[in-house]
Parts: sequence; C-alpha cells; structure tokens
Amino acid sequence: MSGGSSRPSYVSYQSAGAALHAPTILVFDSGLGGLSVFRELARARPDARFVYAADDAGFPYGRLGETELVGRVLSVMEALIARLAPDAVVIACNTASTLVLPALRARYSIPFVGTVPAIKPACEGSVTKQVSVLATPGTVKRDYTQALIRDFAGACQVTLVGSLRLASIAEAAMAGEEVSDADIAAEIAPAFVREGKARTDTVVLACTHYPLILERLQRNAPWPVRWIDPAAAIARRLSSLIGPVAFAASPAPLRLFSTATPLDAALIERIVGRKARAGEVLSPVPLEA
Ligand code: DGL
Repeated sequence: MSGGSSRPSYVSYQSAGAALHAPTILVFDSGLGGLSVFRELARARPDARFVYAADDAGFPYGRLGETELVGRVLSVMEALIARLAPDAVVIACNTASTLVLPALRARYSIPFVGTVPAIKPACEGSVTKQVSVLATPGTVKRDYTQALIRDFAGACQVTLVGSLRLASIAEAAMAGEEVSDADIAAEIAPAFVREGKARTDTVVLACTHYPLILERLQRNAPWPVRWIDPAAAIARRLSSLIGPVAFAASPAPLRLFSTATPLDAALIERIVGRKARAGEVLSPVPLEA
C-alpha cells in the first residue's frame, strides 16, 4: 500500500563490465484498449519488461460512478504493485486517468504516466476550428476534461461525445466477433459536426480502445478527418521518466494479468505482434470500502 513496495526491481544485464537494467513497466486498462498504447511503449523501450493488466471484472469503466471507479482502480493497483513491484505504471485508460491519477500518485512513489484526451494538439492543428473528442461517458463528464478544453481549446469549438458502446464494440471486434458498420457509424456520427461552412476536421481518440479499430472508424466516418491518437506521446513521456534506452535485448514475452477471465495470449500476440505468456488471473481483488 505504501511507496515502500515500489523499489526498483531491475533485472541486471552485464555489458562491457557495466550493469544494465531492464525496467519493469506495468500497463493498465479496463480491457484490451491499453494495447494501443502498449504497441508504442514497446517500440520506444526495447529494454523494458512489460506487464499488461486488464481489470476485465470492472469493464466497461465508462459506466462507473467516480467513487466506485477510484476505489476499484486503487484496489486492483494495490494487488498488481504488491505482486510485480513495477518501476513505472502507465494507466492506458482515459476514463481512469482523468480521475484517479492524483490518488495513485499520493499513495505510491513510483512514476505513473496517464492517458488523457489530446485536446491541445488537436486544437492546435485544426484548420476548421471544429474538433470532437470521442470518449467514454465517464471521460466526457470529468472536470479534468473540462479543464483541458478551458486551457487549450483556444478558438476551437470542442464537441464532447461520450459513446456508450464503442469500447465494447472494439473488444468484440478484437475478439473476432461480427461487428456491423452500421453500429460503428451510429456511435461515431455525433462526432461529425457541421456548423455553417465549417465542419469537424479533427477527432481525438480519447479512449484507448478506439485506435484498435481505427480502420473501421475511418471507413464509417461521414467525411475524412485527422484522428488523434496520443500513444506515441505517452511512450515519449514514459521514456523521459525512466531514462534513455541503455541496451536492446530481445524483447521479453509480455506478461498478462486480468481480474476475471485469463487474457487470451494468442489474441494479444496477434494484436501487438509480440510473444505473450499465458494470462494469469489476479484474485481475489478486494474492493475498497
Ligand atoms: N479504454 C478505456 C479508456 O481509455 C475505457 C474503456 C471502458 O469503458 O472501460 O477510456
């Protein structure tokens, strides 16, 4: 529970007489969405040992009330940190990051990197000054999101779209289930706004599930837009916190944890193009009162 559990547990490598270290990075989401962030993290950090954890028992986070979500993430994180002693944690979930980061940082001394709506780069690059934020219902309600708009929207008109179903649709599509174009089109339609001559030219992917189905989103968009995925920026942020890459080992297989059903290693290997170990279930995860 305390920061004491967060001491680095580097694996040492010897090279030219110097000890080099493989940092353990924990990547966390409610489901498979955080894999869109993991792909970039893995590219940026060939020296790291990655663990991917999904709180699938709590999925979808977008529907949870704020008190419930804070308690849930703190409990699951406590179990994960006790088990894995990571050197850094990436909360690869906008719905959690826009709410829970202050509580996590107060409790642990290890660095936490969050994933929050990329409103600043979206608004800076918009020509029509019509930007939409496609997120979960939780993320669009957050004070944090409102503050980003207040501070960084500038002259842009920002439309917040809280999709009830798109994260679940992405999970189903990733699992190889049939997902209709009509369902996707209906979920993203409110993000396409026409006001006079100006129409939306930029859509922020503010849920990590959405980049996993980007090609389906593009195909079902009423007109072409710039889709903003913050994953590469998150990877740069993590790198700046843990220091330069010291060596490139052949990547360790991804370790997988979940809270309900073991994650399907073969499916995850297909999504991220990297070897994964058989999924383990973290249990029981007592929920905070
Ligand atoms: N992937 C998560 C996010 O970035 C949310 C999905 C969910 O509703 O659990 O917001």
